[in-house]
Amino acid sequence: MEKRGSFGSRFGTIAAVGGSVIGLGNIWRFPYVAGENGGAAFMLIYLIISLLISIPIMLSEFAIGRSTRSNPMRAFSRLAPGTPWKGVGYTGILCAFVILSFYCVIAGWALEFLGDSALNRFAGLTPGQIAGNFDTFVASGWRPILWTLVFIGATAFIILSGIEKGIERYNKILMPVLFLLLAGMAANAMTLDGAREGIAFLLRPDFGKITAKTVLEALGQSFFSMSLGMGCMITYGSYLRKNENVLRIGGMVALSDITVAVLSGLAIFPAVFSFGISPTSGPELVFVTLPNVFARMTGGYFLSILFFFLLFLAAITSSVSLMEVIVAYLSEEFPVGRKRAVALTAGTVAVTGSLCALSMIPSSALTVGGMNLFDLCDALSSNVMMPLGGLLIVLFAGWVLSPAKLRRELTGGMRYGTKVYPLVRFLIRFVIPVLILLLFLNRTGVL
Ligand code: PHE
Repeated sequence: MEKRGSFGSRFGTIAAVGGSVIGLGNIWRFPYVAGENGGAAFMLIYLIISLLISIPIMLSEFAIGRSTRSNPMRAFSRLAPGTPWKGVGYTGILCAFVILSFYCVIAGWALEFLGDSALNRFAGLTPGQIAGNFDTFVASGWRPILWTLVFIGATAFIILSGIEKGIERYNKILMPVLFLLLAGMAANAMTLDGAREGIAFLLRPDFGKITAKTVLEALGQSFFSMSLGMGCMITYGSYLRKNENVLRIGGMVALSDITVAVLSGLAIFPAVFSFGISPTSGPELVFVTLPNVFARMTGGYFLSILFFFLLFLAAITSSVSLMEVIVAYLSEEFPVGRKRAVALTAGTVAVTGSLCALSMIPSSALTVGGMNLFDLCDALSSNVMMPLGGLLIVLFAGWVLSPAKLRRELTGGMRYGTKVYPLVRFLIRFVIPVLILLLFLNRTGVL
């Protein structure tokens, strides 16, 4: 087993955890899932779930990871030896593979669009032409695969060369830039013709539209966006220093994550309505909407380059954290060393990622039950694996982990957060498990 590092400073911790959490989930996935699920009603439920369910789950993962300082599988087998709990660790590792497989494809799209922006390819195109270009790109098959592979290579390179620390340092400046850029884009979106309709779509809830499906989609989106339910925050929790205020870190990270998602929504929906794009376009929503915005904006040429570059950066800090879950497990449990662990993981994802990219070609036979492989990986991870993992993790933190340990990890031995701790514990033990369970029973038709 290799020696484990830990984050060097409070800033390093927040940058790394924030790097994992903020990614394509906020900018690409949030708008497309919100668009498919009715907009404002979805957003409201997403906000409630993020505050009430996701933050406590993140804290539970931190507690499990930090108290054992090991990869998810080993963390469970240490805390509950000889029990099936370590299965949660294994499914988390599997989930990391499933997510990486489609995540790298989308990150590849961001790279293609970065190139297109630099070559000024969107200037003067009509919304129809922009949508047509996107379809041709995806249908070409080889181009998306090429970019997927480039992105996987870049992720592997970062993990191997240990320059994550360097990236975190740049992120300190670049993530606030992304934040400002999104805020500027949201402000600009308000000035578009027909923007009102988009704002209403996102902010005026129609409660009649809320179904159990909406709630499960919101839960899945929140877990995906906060990297929960699959061991990522257990792994990062294991690198947390003992004197770190976990409650504060969880709260800060969650709030930034939510803010970036809402800003993306505000930047995108007014434009969606203004350019006559369907809010239910699915995964391509952001990629067919934003080029229209940039094509008509003063300074759009430079801003689009900046945007797609930042999107790529946000994505790579997340894919590094996903790959790290698998690499930490392989290199700590088998005598392979980090280098081979990275090669093995990247090699496997190169195959599954390429298949996901190919499955997006309209006539592709890579479908299961009418869903293409890409959509399947996306839905399976967010709507099944992560909620199930989240449920098991809170059950473990609330009922199996000793109460003294949970309290020590979350309050630093009663040094901080003593007022909110009882509430967090109550949510972890009772409210969250019951809610997720009810939701599952309803969705599977039992209730
Ligand atoms: N949270 C990341 C994003 O929003 C995706 C992710 C999920 C990363 C699970 C790690 C683990 O893009």
